[in-house]
Amino acid sequence: MSGLFITIEGPDGAGKTTVTQRVAERLLNEGFEVVMTREPGGIPIAEQIREVLHDTKNTAMDSRTEALLYAAARRQHLMEKVRPALEQGKVVICDRFVDSSLAYQGYARGLGVDEVWSINQFAIEGFLPVRTYFFDITPEEGLRRIEASAIREVNRLDEEGLAFHQKVYEGYQKLLEKFPERIVRIDAGKSIPEVEEEMYTHIRQDLNMVY
Ligand code: TMP
Repeated sequence: MSGLFITIEGPDGAGKTTVTQRVAERLLNEGFEVVMTREPGGIPIAEQIREVLHDTKNTAMDSRTEALLYAAARRQHLMEKVRPALEQGKVVICDRFVDSSLAYQGYARGLGVDEVWSINQFAIEGFLPVRTYFFDITPEEGLRRIEASAIREVNRLDEEGLAFHQKVYEGYQKLLEKFPERIVRIDAGKSIPEVEEEMYTHIRQDLNMVY
């Protein structure tokens, strides 16, 4: 596949969406064909699954159902949007991918990272990003930022307590150890322009490898 697949990860409230949009705009202005997308969602079928997953009324949802729905949304998005764009040689930047399922469902929900990895293999068939940027922020600071932000949509997982978000963070630390070549840590505790600059510098190097 000729394009470049990059994913963005991190705890809730890390500011990854804002920063990534700014970086994507810079790359577009430089003439790169960039597709910025997100999980769960990015296409109508997966956005519908997102609504079910994130609806705060769905308190009865079983953890395995949750993991399967994220994997189902991932599959559809990969086949309908990500792979076709990569086949056309584009840069695809996806806000969350399989690492979110490993950290949130595998580790924090306690389903087991290996089990969640295996159901995701059915969905992604071994297809992984070339690079993943992990926006590193403590769960306390992430939750503080969510509470301070009036515009951000609050989802079912945001409503989990600090203990859950601490486990998510621990889960990500384990993924950083497991995939040291693929996952790059970005210090998301800095100001937005500083984080933007750090991510831009890294991503520009990734682009130089391919284009
Ligand atoms: P976001 O769009 O604000 O990042 O929200 C997505 C939420 O869904 C966030 O709380 C993380 C969660 N999530 C999972 O638990 N597992 C997954 O596989 C994905 C993609 C997201």
